[in-house]
Amino acid sequence: MRPPAATGRILLVDDDRAFRVSTAALLRQDGYEVHPVADGEEAVAALRQQRFDLMLLDLRLPGMNGLRIVEALRLWGEGVPILMISGFGTVETAVEALHLGADDFLGKPVEPEILSARVADLLARRPGVESIPESSFCGMVGRSAGMLEVFDAVRRVAATDATVLVTGETGTGKELVARAIHDSSARRRGPFQAVNCASLAEGLLETELFGHVRGSFTGAVGDKQGLFEAAHGGTLFLDEIGDISLNLQQRLLRVLQEREVRRVGSVRATPVDVRVVAATRRDLRREVAEERFREDLFYRLNVFPITLPPLRERAADIPLLVEAAMAGARRTRPRLACSPLAMRTLRAHSWPGNVRELMAALESAAIRADGDRIEAQHLPLEVRAPLEHDAAGGDRYRVHDAHGDERSTILAALEEAGGSRARAAEILGMGRTTLWRKMRLYDIASNGDH
Ligand SMILES: Nc1ncnc2c1ncn2[C@@H]1O[C@H](COP(=O)(O)OP(=O)(O)OP(=O)(O)O)[C@@H](O)[C@H]1O
Ligand SMILES: [Mg+2]
Repeated sequence: MRPPAATGRILLVDDDRAFRVSTAALLRQDGYEVHPVADGEEAVAALRQQRFDLMLLDLRLPGMNGLRIVEALRLWGEGVPILMISGFGTVETAVEALHLGADDFLGKPVEPEILSARVADLLARRPGVESIPESSFCGMVGRSAGMLEVFDAVRRVAATDATVLVTGETGTGKELVARAIHDSSARRRGPFQAVNCASLAEGLLETELFGHVRGSFTGAVGDKQGLFEAAHGGTLFLDEIGDISLNLQQRLLRVLQEREVRRVGSVRATPVDVRVVAATRRDLRREVAEERFREDLFYRLNVFPITLPPLRERAADIPLLVEAAMAGARRTRPRLACSPLAMRTLRAHSWPGNVRELMAALESAAIRADGDRIEAQHLPLEVRAPLEHDAAGGDRYRVHDAHGDERSTILAALEEAGGSRARAAEILGMGRTTLWRKMRLYDIASNGDH
């Protein structure tokens, strides 16, 4: 028996006639209604006339480049899911397409089964089919617009081997993001190796990363495999990357460029297949400007940036995080809960230590509370007295660049608007195009207008 026919209307945009004909036939066999066109202008005209559930878009088109179409569509606030297809797919263009708002990417030649599966996947995500956004992803909880963007970015980049740079203040969850990328990627069965670059002296870090051969320095009694080799087939997490010396930055750049490592003291290079996720709480652009961080390495790492918003910009996540924090204590006190005043106090605090500080505050409050209710007085003093605390030390934690305030305002508006760019633009009193441009400027990822 044949499975029930799939439904959905697909706009197929490709200048290659043979591909158009065969793909249209394949998708029609799957039960879809297909509207094939040959270039960007026809695509735009078709989109103006009718509603589509999915667009299959060639990256290189005569007249209008596929990337520009994605950008234009997202500018109009069009939410049609886009599957990019290209014969010239490099990681960089795939990443750019995904960043501009394409939902998925396939390189040619496209296997019919893979295409069918991806199309079905994307159509299953249609609004209305699944309307409640998830509030957790790979151990991270959150439902603020900012965190939903992070989940989305993680999911997108997990499908590629692109290098990821995770930034955000201390305690915002950078390490969790690195693990989530590994766990949701095809490398999840491979190793996940992590190193904190700030915790080791330069020489130690060098041998830790690249390994050494026997006798390469006093005390090198045997051969040692470095983390790059140990992470072969998996993911290497370079935490606190902003803290490595200029000398090691150069070594690292070579490995990332050549995809092979040379152990200290060895002339032989070993090829490695490793996805690198780097994290820092520093502002790397500023480190570059002040010549503490190599610009070329910065661009190598910054292929796909993910920025974690500070907790004070995502108050909507606090009740969920409180639930997560109390899960442990609930094992023995199943009715443990926060009083409304305690919850209001938590939402009002500025959380310089972000999620880590929140988790610790609740853990101690649960110990201090005798009964089943956490009251405001059980919370740590600095959480209860936000004003005094801010006056004393809040400034240290302000966003470091001059754009910080505007970025926060935009994030707050997006959150209030439930992620809708059109509504956020209204709240801010700016045009949608201006908002879109600013979002790109401040690296605020967009997940469409829903
Ligand atoms: N979204 C989240 N959901 C649940 N727990 C979280 C979330 N974000 C962070 N945490 C928890 O907060 C703590 C800090 O997270 P993590 O170590 O990933 O932060 P970080 O950004 O790497 O901090 P640092 O810069 O200080 O190293 C961890 O215990 C982590 O489990
Ligand atoms: Mg960390």
